[in-house]
Amino acid sequence: MNSKSKLLGLLWLPLLAGCISAPHDAADTDRRVATLLAQMTLDEKIGQMVQVDLLALKDKADIQKYFLGSMLSGGSSDPADNRPQTWLQAVNEYQSWALKTRLKIPLIYGVDAVHGHNNVLGAVVFPHHIGMGATHNPALVEQAEHVTAMEVAGTGIRWAFAPCIAVAQDERWGRTYESFGDSTELVSELGAASVRGLQGKNLADSTSVLACAKHFIGDGGTQGGVDQGNDVCDAATIRKLYLPPYKAAVEAGVGSIMVSYNSWNGKKMHGNKYLLTEVLKGELGFKGFLVSDWAAIDQLAPDYKTDVENSINAGLDMIMIPNGPGQPNNYVDFIQDLKQLVAQKRVPMARIDDAVRRILRVKFQMGSFEQPYTDPSLTAQIGSAEHRAVARDCVRQSLVLLKNNNLAVPLAKNLKHLVVVGAAADDLGIQCGGWTIGWQGETGKVTPGGTTILTAIKNTVAPGTTVTFSPDGSDVKGADAVVVVVGELPYAEMKGDRQDLSLPATDIALVEKAKSAGVPVITLLLSGRPLILGNALDSSDAFIAAWLPGTEGQGVADVLFGDYKPTGKLPRQWLRDNAGAATQAVQPSASAPLFPSGYSLNN
Ligand code: GLC
Repeated sequence: MNSKSKLLGLLWLPLLAGCISAPHDAADTDRRVATLLAQMTLDEKIGQMVQVDLLALKDKADIQKYFLGSMLSGGSSDPADNRPQTWLQAVNEYQSWALKTRLKIPLIYGVDAVHGHNNVLGAVVFPHHIGMGATHNPALVEQAEHVTAMEVAGTGIRWAFAPCIAVAQDERWGRTYESFGDSTELVSELGAASVRGLQGKNLADSTSVLACAKHFIGDGGTQGGVDQGNDVCDAATIRKLYLPPYKAAVEAGVGSIMVSYNSWNGKKMHGNKYLLTEVLKGELGFKGFLVSDWAAIDQLAPDYKTDVENSINAGLDMIMIPNGPGQPNNYVDFIQDLKQLVAQKRVPMARIDDAVRRILRVKFQMGSFEQPYTDPSLTAQIGSAEHRAVARDCVRQSLVLLKNNNLAVPLAKNLKHLVVVGAAADDLGIQCGGWTIGWQGETGKVTPGGTTILTAIKNTVAPGTTVTFSPDGSDVKGADAVVVVVGELPYAEMKGDRQDLSLPATDIALVEKAKSAGVPVITLLLSGRPLILGNALDSSDAFIAAWLPGTEGQGVADVLFGDYKPTGKLPRQWLRDNAGAATQAVQPSASAPLFPSGYSLNN
């Protein structure tokens, strides 16, 4: 070969390599979808529209028998011992059953990785969205979600039901902490960053997972903050407050969107064709697929077959079904009902084809046909030191300084005697909140790895400093300063709906006990939302909102002891009283907030 042809060969090489790894272009993908769709039977098409929960699947062979297109692990639907390796084996086995089907269409498995891969023991648990909102840092959100994507892929899973892009308007809502904040602009910016972090530049990359913006639309705008309740407002309010984050997510390329349980002016969202099809798919041009929430279609009508008809015709493409044979409204019922509805022309074939086309397009974009299994080298990185370092940075940047008299913060690292008060100071489960290992979360050592705030304090002080832990505040004698940690016990969804948002009297009493020592009192609040603080704020020299920071408590100590100057700003208003729980946007008569959204003492 002469030198000229060698040079030409070298020129082609990178291009060839690029072609092999380059994502399929849209036209090529659409051609592949059309070719595959044309081969599919009605059973195979309907199978793609079915998502079955792990605990509902009675027989793995049903994946092949019913051509199931998707599975999920709901909040507590975890494999037996809940270790990363076990997840990987389980998900790969489900995939192997899908690949036994005639057309070998790969399964897509979803999980609520809403603050890290939070179902899995040993995974890094990040601050919940309210804390990430306080960072006001889209680049950091993107970085955190990329780490989450790697840990999710490390368990064989390639779909995260995240980000929640609710613009929560009322702190009485139990899911307030799943929202980045009460500002449409902040939620739009951080929601799009989250999509980019999860999906990466190319959805076919081994470290990318499909994002799922949720819950469309108005989940955070219900009257009184009632979970799955009713938004009472005009279309202009929906468009002004809640639609922009979806526009931003669609522009960021989000491949799936989950529909919300709530109603709008009395009409259930899962049956709202105007918003799902005309607005989201039409006006916003969303080309991905719509997935229902957990058994949400069952709430639409008196009978399940009508639920199926109304939800699919409204624009739902995939239905999340938590019930198996022997339970009502199970996945076999769904398949039989939908087949009958097509035969009776109550659901047009064109609607089935549109749903399946959307699902297949995303699966092709994910590269799942070429690579239905994830890269096993990612499994060992779950919970790694570098992943934890990213979460620690998120914690640092999420803390909001609300008060700091006489520069009580930062604390000196060489105090003679520091007392730490409050059981929450040494409780990883309280630090992580809901959606951690179990759906509702739990107190105590909820997951291996991680650092409680007490441990972080002990890691940081000088060798000569004595740290006394007094959970009930009874032993503050001789302290040079007291750190008090108070807050909410873990909860999720409707279990967190509350009418009274006052900090419990027992917590306020802890602050008073600390104050009796007559030395600086620094209070840390671990909560999924602002709370009515009463004397707790007045009796503290410094007060820090730490939200639900997750496993990396060292980030709290970084701020406490001055290794990181707090930069967090309130992601939402801080209510003064229960009458002020709702923002002025949804309740103009609400009382003025104690601190406005965006507030921070030092910036
Ligand atoms: C839950 C939540 C939703 C979650 C789904 C699957 O009810 O509303 O956010 O993704 O079910 O766990």
